[in-house]
Amino acid sequence: MNKIISKKVLSKSVTEMKIYAPQILKHAQAGQFVMLRINEKSERIPLTISDMDHENGLLTIIFQVIGSTTYELNELNVGDDILDLVGPLGKPTHIEGFKKVCVIGGGVGCAIAYPVAKALSLKNVEVDVIIGFKSKNDMILHQKFEKIANHVFVSTDDGSYQTKGFVTDILSDLLKNGQTYDHVFAIGPIIMMKMVSQLTAKYNIGTTVSLNPIMVDGTGMCGGCRVKVGKDIKFACVDGPDFDGHLVDFDLLQSRNNMYKETETKNYKCLAEKGGHS
Ligand SMILES: Cc1cc2nc3c(=O)[nH]c(=O)nc-3n(C[C@H](O)[C@H](O)[C@H](O)COP(=O)(O)OP(=O)(O)OC[C@H]3O[C@@H](n4cnc5c(N)ncnc54)[C@H](O)[C@@H]3O)c2cc1C
Ligand code: FES
Repeated sequence: MNKIISKKVLSKSVTEMKIYAPQILKHAQAGQFVMLRINEKSERIPLTISDMDHENGLLTIIFQVIGSTTYELNELNVGDDILDLVGPLGKPTHIEGFKKVCVIGGGVGCAIAYPVAKALSLKNVEVDVIIGFKSKNDMILHQKFEKIANHVFVSTDDGSYQTKGFVTDILSDLLKNGQTYDHVFAIGPIIMMKMVSQLTAKYNIGTTVSLNPIMVDGTGMCGGCRVKVGKDIKFACVDGPDFDGHLVDFDLLQSRNNMYKETETKNYKCLAEKGGHS
């Protein structure tokens, strides 16, 4: 069993948990994820390994309460066990050969961007970070990014903290003012990754995005997570989740993720109204 060792509220809808899982940590690298199942009745969901404490065998997950499974996960407390935790899954993020990069995180995507920024910084790569949120109250991981990055820029949609606007406004200003990067990593809402990729294409800067299609088994068997990258069909769970942002069909990804929205929203509302007891 995988015991929850700590639980911390990072914002209104985002929680951090540290879980005792030394076996998974042995092989885990930045960019990889776990599939977890809370109990026999729950669905399996993918969550990124957001940080690793090898000394104590603890892996960190940071999740947004968005539907029924993340709601149930958030009901667990320190000392509770998670039934299944499988990983590390997916390919590690490619971080070799760069001198100066920009890592961009949007909303809960910052939980996925953080381990990438940290791994790059540990390799002495110069890392600029741009993180964006709806509002100051939604901001997460700002201080953790400050510790590892050369510069951290923050945008908020409503202007309640630092730059008013989107992460792309900050990136666009930096690039217009002559800033150069070997590579950009962008992780967040699909529309954000699409807009960043369109911008970096103009400047011919290679761009990695981390895709979040609906996953079922996480083993490449069910086809649930298929995405179109250039002319190829890929499975995000085994071929990704990282792909070349200049080749990804973001519109198809968005429409596939929207397919289950109505049913999932209905299930979540039902669960929340019952106070978590289904
Ligand atoms: C490789 C990978 C890593 C991920 N890492 C993280 C992470 O570190 N932290 C985190 O908070 N989330 C992460 N996610 C997304 C997370 O898996 C989903 O939010 C979760 O499965 C939702 O489950 P649920 O039952 O609570 O919600 P559901 O009831 O399944 O969904 C609720 C709502 O969220 C939307 N939704 C569900 N899954 C996704 C998705 N994958 N992308 C976009 N919208 C979705 C649905 O359309 C629906 O409207 C990751 C996804 C992938 C594929
Ligand atoms: S989740 Fe089933 S193939 Fe990727």
